[in-house]
Amino acid sequence: MSLKKIVILFSGEGTNLENLIQKLHQKSVMVVGAITNNPDAKGIQKAENLGVAVTILNHKAFNSREAFDTKLVEIIQNLKVDLTVLAGFMRILTPIFTDQIKAINIHPSLLPLFKGANALERSFESEMKVGGISVHEVVTEIDGGKIIMQECFDKSDMDFETFKKRIHKSEHVLFPNAVMKVLTSH
Ligand code: GRF
Repeated sequence: MSLKKIVILFSGEGTNLENLIQKLHQKSVMVVGAITNNPDAKGIQKAENLGVAVTILNHKAFNSREAFDTKLVEIIQNLKVDLTVLAGFMRILTPIFTDQIKAINIHPSLLPLFKGANALERSFESEMKVGGISVHEVVTEIDGGKIIMQECFDKSDMDFETFKKRIHKSEHVLFPNAVMKVLTSH
């Protein structure tokens, strides 16, 4: 049976992008491409080093979110993927995207807590004893879709740098598992 296809969207460092390609590409899925809105994203080199082509779609070249999303949807649909995976893709998406594209996202908090920007900082600074991560379906409400997988850990004695490293470590284990869970669930 042929492997299912995914495309990965990212905006920055791309450690999750790199990890997903290393763990899954050509073994459990085909990563048929990656797309970034940021021409300076560090992840571009990471993907290309691993043999995955990157399309740069600079949001600054579009005069509305809808125009950007229309082009993004067109590119994704041409790739004929089974799933779109958002790995640090820092764009608010309109219904043009969310109504047409089946996508999942990783978020550095225990949703439904700390939705939206700076979740990592807000989660760290909160009085909660635990921090965590969530993988969820992408819907129009930011970080509001159905939760697919979560993990939490005790953060009571951590400084911010340790907390950040712990988040990434968990993300790099959970996210590939969540991608496979979604792809094999029907
Ligand atoms: C991750 O912490 C993820 O939870 C959030 O953006 C960050 C991306 O990091 N959505 P990286 O680019 O994968 O290193």
